[in-house]
Parts: sequence; structure tokens; C-alpha cells
Amino acid sequence: MTNKQDEFLVLNPIDIRTDIIQLKGRKYNEIYDLVKKIISHQFQRNIENGIKGFIFHGDVGTGKTTMAKALSKDLNLPLFFVDGIDIARSLYGQSERQIGTLFEIASLRKSIILIDDAESVFPKRDWIKGQSWHVAQNNVFFHKLDNVNTAKTSVILTTNRYDLMDKAVKDRLYSIMFDSLDIETLKEIAKIKCVELGIRSKEILEKLESKKEEYSSVRALEKLIRRKYIEAI
Ligand SMILES: Nc1ncnc2c1ncn2[C@@H]1O[C@H](COP(=O)(O)OP(=O)(O)OP(=O)(O)O)[C@@H](O)[C@H]1O
Ligand SMILES: [Mg+2]
Repeated sequence: MTNKQDEFLVLNPIDIRTDIIQLKGRKYNEIYDLVKKIISHQFQRNIENGIKGFIFHGDVGTGKTTMAKALSKDLNLPLFFVDGIDIARSLYGQSERQIGTLFEIASLRKSIILIDDAESVFPKRDWIKGQSWHVAQNNVFFHKLDNVNTAKTSVILTTNRYDLMDKAVKDRLYSIMFDSLDIETLKEIAKIKCVELGIRSKEILEKLESKKEEYSSVRALEKLIRRKYIEAI
């Protein structure tokens, strides 16, 4: 069951459907193993002042959000899921309070905090052009982040606009770049998704091969599969 605690969606590991076995690509899995190793090391060895968290950055559909969910499931840790766009849309003063509360609630137990599409929450200063509430919000975040107990909390930010993110955020977290998936990995993903939907993969794999450019992201691939699925119903 998922529940909302003071504006935050808390995903329980048992309810997360993303499974590590479904994740494809050598490089992607290497990143996964590294992040998992760091978080479990800090949580198990009670390292209170270790790595505060990560920025997963890369193009649309490179599996950044998916990885955060898979980690939470695999490590059996609740995931505090914050939609960056939601927070950025909050009224003046609201988002600072929300961020403050988020860290307090999350710190009550071992957990992962995911701030998805974080560039809208922590934009770099010359981009926000004097919106003082953004600065205030960032300051609350930095304060909370600097005080995170890394034996209990790990923070993951995702973004496809790394260029727009505040340097002070980048300095505090460990940045990891997600590459676009190669064609073989995309094919593997296509096969899994076709099996899930009970449709034949032959035509889709052919299209992938012949139009590599067009289907270079999982998002484009998903669109194609959805179309085929609807046609097959
Ligand atoms: N390495 C992978 N193996 C299997 N599936 C993947 C992989 N990477 C991405 N996917 C699939 O691609 C889709 C998009 O992934 P996801 O939403 O995590 O991307 P994202 O990087 O967060 O994109 P955005 O920047 O748009 O938020 C999901 O259905 C996910 O399961
Ligand atoms: Mg995402």
C-alpha cells in the first residue's frame, strides 16, 4: 500500500513493481551495483557522515527514476517520493516547509528520499533571477542535507537538465551520468515488454533495427509497443 504523509508519497518496497532482474545494460547494472554498495555499506556499518546521496542525470528515459525504485525494493527501504515539479509549483513558503518536514519524517527510519525531476526545485541561481523564495528553499535543503545521518537516509535526485541545477547541490551530492541505452539493450527491453503485454516482438525488433535513430530512447520504444498493443487488442 502507498500512503501520503504530509504531501509526500511513501512507497513501500513490497509494492514497488520494478525489479532488478528486469533492468538491462552492463553499464546501467554497474551503476546500480555501485550505488547499492554505497548505501548498504553506510546503513550497515552505521556510517553517519558518509555520502549524502546522488544526482542521477541523463537524457529522458535512461532509467533514472526506475533505478531509485529498484534500489528501494532491493534494499527493502521505504521510498519517499517527491515530484520536483509538484514542489516547485507550491505556494511561496510552502515548499520550504515541505522539504523540512520531508527530511524530519524520513529520518524516523532507514529510508531513501527521491526528488524526481529536481532541476525545477534546485535551479541554479542565475536562472531563477532573484526569486528569493527559491534561494530560501535551497537553503533549507542544504541545511537538511548537511545534517543528514547517512547511516539512515540516502537522498537521490534525478534530472534530465543537469545544466540547470544549482552548483551548491552538485557539490554536495555524488553525480552519476546515465548514458542512453544501446540497441542490444533496447531490444532486450522490448522483448520483456512484449511478453508482459502478450504481443509478438518480431515486428518491433525489426523496426528498432531499421530505425535506430528514431527509437534510441526507451520512451520512443514504449510508444511503439503501446501502439502495437492497441492494434493487437
Ligand atoms: N536499463 C534498463 N533496463 C530495463 N528497463 C529500463 C532501463 N532503463 C529504463 N528502462 C525503462 O524505461 C522506462 C523509462 O525509465 P525512467 O522513467 O526510469 O526514465 P528516466 O530516466 O527517469 O526518464 P525522465 O528523465 O523522463 O524522468 C521505464 O519503463 C523503465 O522501466
Ligand atoms: Mg524520471
